Amino acid sequence: MSPDPSGTIKSVLQEQRVFHPSAELASQSMVGSLEAYRRMAEQAKTDPDSFWGEAARTELEWFEPFDSVLDWSNPPFARWFEGGTTNLSFNCLDRHLNGPKADKTALIWEGEPGDVRRFTYRELHAEVCRAANALKALGIGKGDLVALYMPMVPEAAIAMLACARIGAPHSVVFGGFSAEALRDRLVDGEAKAVITADGGFRKDKAVALKPAVDAALAEGACPSVTSVLVVQRTKESVVMEPGRDQWWHELVSAQSQECAAEPMASEDRLFVLYTSGSTGKPKGVVHSTAGYNLWAHLTFKWIFDIRDEDVYWCTADVGWITGHSYIVYGPLSNGATTVMYEGAPRPSKPGAFWELIQKHGITIFYTAPTAIRAFMKSGRAVPDQYDMSSLRLLGTVGEPINPEAWMWYREVIGGDRCPIVDTWWQTETGGVMISPLPGATPTKPGSATLPLPGIEADVVDAQGEPVDVDEGGYLIVRRPWPGMMRTVHGNPQRFRESYWEYLRPKDGSFIYFAGDGARRDSDGYFWVMGRVDDVINVSGHRLGTMEIESALVSHPAVSEAAVVGRPDDLKGEAIVAFVTLEGSREVSDALIQELRVHVGKEIGPIARPDEIRCSDALPKTRSGKIMRRILRALAAGEEVKGDTSTLEDRSVLDRLRA
Ligand code: WTA
Repeated sequence: MSPDPSGTIKSVLQEQRVFHPSAELASQSMVGSLEAYRRMAEQAKTDPDSFWGEAARTELEWFEPFDSVLDWSNPPFARWFEGGTTNLSFNCLDRHLNGPKADKTALIWEGEPGDVRRFTYRELHAEVCRAANALKALGIGKGDLVALYMPMVPEAAIAMLACARIGAPHSVVFGGFSAEALRDRLVDGEAKAVITADGGFRKDKAVALKPAVDAALAEGACPSVTSVLVVQRTKESVVMEPGRDQWWHELVSAQSQECAAEPMASEDRLFVLYTSGSTGKPKGVVHSTAGYNLWAHLTFKWIFDIRDEDVYWCTADVGWITGHSYIVYGPLSNGATTVMYEGAPRPSKPGAFWELIQKHGITIFYTAPTAIRAFMKSGRAVPDQYDMSSLRLLGTVGEPINPEAWMWYREVIGGDRCPIVDTWWQTETGGVMISPLPGATPTKPGSATLPLPGIEADVVDAQGEPVDVDEGGYLIVRRPWPGMMRTVHGNPQRFRESYWEYLRPKDGSFIYFAGDGARRDSDGYFWVMGRVDDVINVSGHRLGTMEIESALVSHPAVSEAAVVGRPDDLKGEAIVAFVTLEGSREVSDALIQELRVHVGKEIGPIARPDEIRCSDALPKTRSGKIMRRILRALAAGEEVKGDTSTLEDRSVLDRLRA
């Protein structure tokens, strides 16, 4: 972990506009005023145990009640709601079956070709039970890790819920990752089964998935994996390995639609989700049953001020935490109607999103700034062709949103009437941490505003001490919260070091280091500025520079590589790689292209460098550390400022500039 100590965190943003919730919205919403929010936050701060305890008792169903709220006797390893047993799948499904919600639409799914499937809570429950029984038939039980490598089809959500139902933690691997990346995750998690599909439809093409699973499992690379369950989606031909592979439609449909939810202890492992950090391989972020369920549930309810008649759509992929918490678990735990879309806007259908909003009467729309910037670039003529008057609330997630994009989103998509919730959070936090509450929080374009009740966020300096108003620093959280990650799979030390021991204030307290830079203004509003570590955020996707560097040096032509982010209007950040080649290799366009393809193969297309610059050396300190600060400036076409006296060979700079 190395937040660049020489780079000061500065914010140049001077945004003064403020949008107040309308009186009408305030009167209809759950938390109807800033005072009400402050009261909740105060209560959570003065008596966290009763605040969280009360929330857990009223918002979740328990098989056995818990005896304690938080055990923080061994920080940073928190234990929440000990003694209690519950089940996430039960909270998302069964508890809605005894009333009017049973026949309410739980899930509306639309495929890219336009096929639509709907599931009521009762129907979804039946499907999940069948899938759970199928997993049992494969010999999967409590504690066995099941990997999912899926397109955006209903079976992805069904499989997640089925795993939770039988207490088998899932590890969802984004379908855009390569066979190699999948294999690393299967091996690290010792997955017992993989659920996948023949493929999915994306940008008017059938994109295959099963061959990547075959490649990942080839030559006994993942001995723990004993079965593969394959959903048929594209109907392209796939190779089925006898004894290992089975079709979902054959195995699942043969099962009973009754399967009791397994009582899970609060701290039983719920899922693992890999994310990029600044060092080494992606880490398996571990979330546990009750705390995660409560946090996904509560945050969804607060932030989207959810009402029974809402039709809610989050455009994320289930392969990311946003898909976990805000396509599947948060909405279903609240008994909401959630929309899932297989496709993406594409040249043949640039208005795909707006058409979906019009068609399904979507009321809440949650997407990423990178998408908004792309829409903005192609102009308002496209969205203007659709009736989006059903919308009442908009959200963004994944990266800082620039005020210009925020204003466009508000005016063009939200018809100047829908509030925007800019939600800051991370895979590690399980759910949203900083966000406006519609009806309560005045918003400022580009600010995620205030921490949710119970979240004590702050901005501190490198010594862990608070900085002044409007000063940049590190974004931290002072206290544990129910949805926090519990550990790094197989590496508790890494969890402790990278998140909780990185900044140690004088008073010795444990604070959670998020890896982001931020400042707080005089109203206490947070302005998140982006990563301060070696993680780059490309179109809302987190990538570790180390991972891309390892992929590059695994190519025989590369001797050394350093990867940095460069500000990009559309993607937030673009990937720039500086490489030195092995002695005899000459730079050529063909080689550069080959390297890009190689990284795509090693990690996935999202990790392909936008630019690769070859040189004979990289700027290093005398102790051999690559000076990324210099590379970042060069990549951005900026002047190299600050101290360069520690450079071992200053002529490298001139050669790199040339
Ligand atoms: C960034 C995605 C600014 C941030 C939920 C964080 C944001 C990383 C915002 C986590 C936001 C997410 N404003 N930055 N509203 N939301 N980020 O784990 O850098 O994929 O650390 O979780 O995304 O990415 P992750």
